[in-house]
Amino acid sequence: MNSDIADIRLAPAGEQKIQWAWRNMPVLQGIAEEFRKEKPFAGLRITASIHVEAKTACLARTLAAGGAQVALTGCNPLSTKDDVAAALVAGGMDVFCRHGVDAQTYTTHLEQALSIRPHIIIDDGGDLGALLHGRRRDLTKDLLGACEETTTGIHRMRILEKENRLLYPVLSINDARCKHLFDNRYGTGQSVFTAIMATTNLIIAGKAVVVAGFGMCGKGVAMRAKGLGARVIVTETDPVTACEALMEGYEVMTMSNAAAAGDIFITLTGCKDVITEDHFKRMKDGAILCNAGHFDVEINLNQLRALSVETGKVRDNIIGYRMPDGRMIYVLAEGRLVNLASGDGHPAEIMDMSFALQALGCRYVARKAGSLESRVHDMPTEIDTEVASRLLAARGRQIDRLTPAQDHYVNHWELDD
Ligand code: NAI
Repeated sequence: MNSDIADIRLAPAGEQKIQWAWRNMPVLQGIAEEFRKEKPFAGLRITASIHVEAKTACLARTLAAGGAQVALTGCNPLSTKDDVAAALVAGGMDVFCRHGVDAQTYTTHLEQALSIRPHIIIDDGGDLGALLHGRRRDLTKDLLGACEETTTGIHRMRILEKENRLLYPVLSINDARCKHLFDNRYGTGQSVFTAIMATTNLIIAGKAVVVAGFGMCGKGVAMRAKGLGARVIVTETDPVTACEALMEGYEVMTMSNAAAAGDIFITLTGCKDVITEDHFKRMKDGAILCNAGHFDVEINLNQLRALSVETGKVRDNIIGYRMPDGRMIYVLAEGRLVNLASGDGHPAEIMDMSFALQALGCRYVARKAGSLESRVHDMPTEIDTEVASRLLAARGRQIDRLTPAQDHYVNHWELDD
């Protein structure tokens, strides 16, 4: 068997999780049904580096239903669900990931997944892209294109594009409206709090929640924090976005000031060193820190470790750091994406939309075989509209259509002579 997973005996538990997610992903179900007949990926190989959990398994099986040979690996060692990986392997898929592996093994798994010499890749954060632009450039010859899932990955690909170093076309799944308006906002909003509440067993109401970064994810998290009864403080670097937060009724301040005021800190910036030494020194006893941005660089844990006189696990997925003055600072999920590393990630209905985009995005890349330029491409509007229409249909909702006269009215402007 061409896989590296923790334990194949976990397969039945993983299969149960996959089946539950599948029941709640009607859009992807419909696409899989069509793929089964159409076989858009016949003869094609797809490598996906993505959080390996139940919803992802549904995407991987949808691609396989379309005739693809799929190799799956993680995009974060702490988000891998070993039972789900086992269920996929039991079903005959090549899977390379184990929960909690070190950085070296994580990279080996990426390389193993690439060893099928993919025609299409799905990347979540750009780690496959880093290898394909580094020591595995040889693999870009057969590559038709990539579908990138998240803000941070697109950011990295746009940097390569700007420097004329991008070696293959990249479809920005993240910038599709059906992705960031729902996944980043409502998905992150809900799943971050599900994770914080389950991990800490503490109440959100009455606490001061500091949300660092008021982008699509931050907006969702701030909205849910407010709904749960928290006092919300937003930190930002972009003046316009900071104004938006202000108009939403949140307090806006620098992290230096927020550090002393917050009870719970959540970073979602895609930037690094958002919470550092100076901030740790000002925090209250018992402050809880977590990150939901893609990489574990937003909270500077090296500095926190260096400052502390004692560290230790206080509960599953919580490490306590004792400061020289006795204050405790608690970090959830080692500063990695808290909703995935210490939770089950986004709700299935949200990933139904994101992964419908991924599946249709891969089909788009396959159909365009070789004709797309090596740059970052926006998701075609028709795919976005198709996913939203399929979702509305699955929920039994109808919407109005423009009449021909309305269509003419909004799309034409006839000037008097
Ligand atoms: P975005 O680009 O919409 O928002 C980021 C915001 O952070 C911007 O408004 C920016 O001005 C602000 N910012 C940047 N540096 C900052 C700093 N040092 N201090 C304060 N604010 C700062 O990005 P989006 O879509 O909200 O994604 C944020 C991160 O979350 C990315 O790393 C993305 O990949 C990740 N992500 C995580 C998900 C999850 O499940 N946890 C889901 C989707 C995205």
